[in-house]
Amino acid sequence: MIVDVITIFPEMFESPFSQSIIKRAITEEHIQLNIHDLRKYSRDKHNKVDDYPYGGGAGMVMKPEPFFRAIEDIGYDKETEIVLMTPTGQQFQQQLCHKLLQKKHMIILCGHYEGIDQRVIDQFVTREISIGDYVLTGGELPAMVVIDAITRVIPGVLPKQESYLNDSFQNGLLEHPHYTRPMEFRGLKVPDVLLSGNHAEIDKWRHNQSVRITKKKRPDLLGFKTNN
Ligand code: ADE
Repeated sequence: MIVDVITIFPEMFESPFSQSIIKRAITEEHIQLNIHDLRKYSRDKHNKVDDYPYGGGAGMVMKPEPFFRAIEDIGYDKETEIVLMTPTGQQFQQQLCHKLLQKKHMIILCGHYEGIDQRVIDQFVTREISIGDYVLTGGELPAMVVIDAITRVIPGVLPKQESYLNDSFQNGLLEHPHYTRPMEFRGLKVPDVLLSGNHAEIDKWRHNQSVRITKKKRPDLLGFKTNN
């Protein structure tokens, strides 16, 4: 999968993607990540990429020309998913990771200020994604969230495929609790069933725990109303 990101803060992407699982996914070419500096596509002598909104009002709007040039320079076809990160988009969920994983090429646009000129959206954007009902200073962190979540479900990225198949949300339930050594720590014991070696019983216990935890923490996932 090739992911091109268009941003005014390319440096923000350096550290998060040079560590751990994502770093390995890039080195092993499960994903190719290209970060593009939007300012390079500005013809303005100060590399300006924003301007006042027509019709007045507070804040600045990101200009259309740099985005048009950047997207056309990167190149795209009708299969390319061109995503705008925006708090007004569709809420990002685990299921969407699997849908996006089918795409060979994604271009992610990171918005700032009051937003980007609507003509960019009308011309290119195939999907608008929000990572939650809150407003961040820009689309960079949301883009990283989406890239991270997609990358870890690319087959071969996690050491064992099961490790994501058991994830929270994967089967509509939250994950069961985990324990490791020691068996007893400050009087706190690991549940006996996990030490029993009886895999059918262990699976049953884990499933029951998942249901219990989901009911308690996220009843909405089971179709119940939440109190918050
Ligand atoms: N840009 C600013 N806030 C955002 C959010 N919650 N999701 C996606 N993009 C954003």
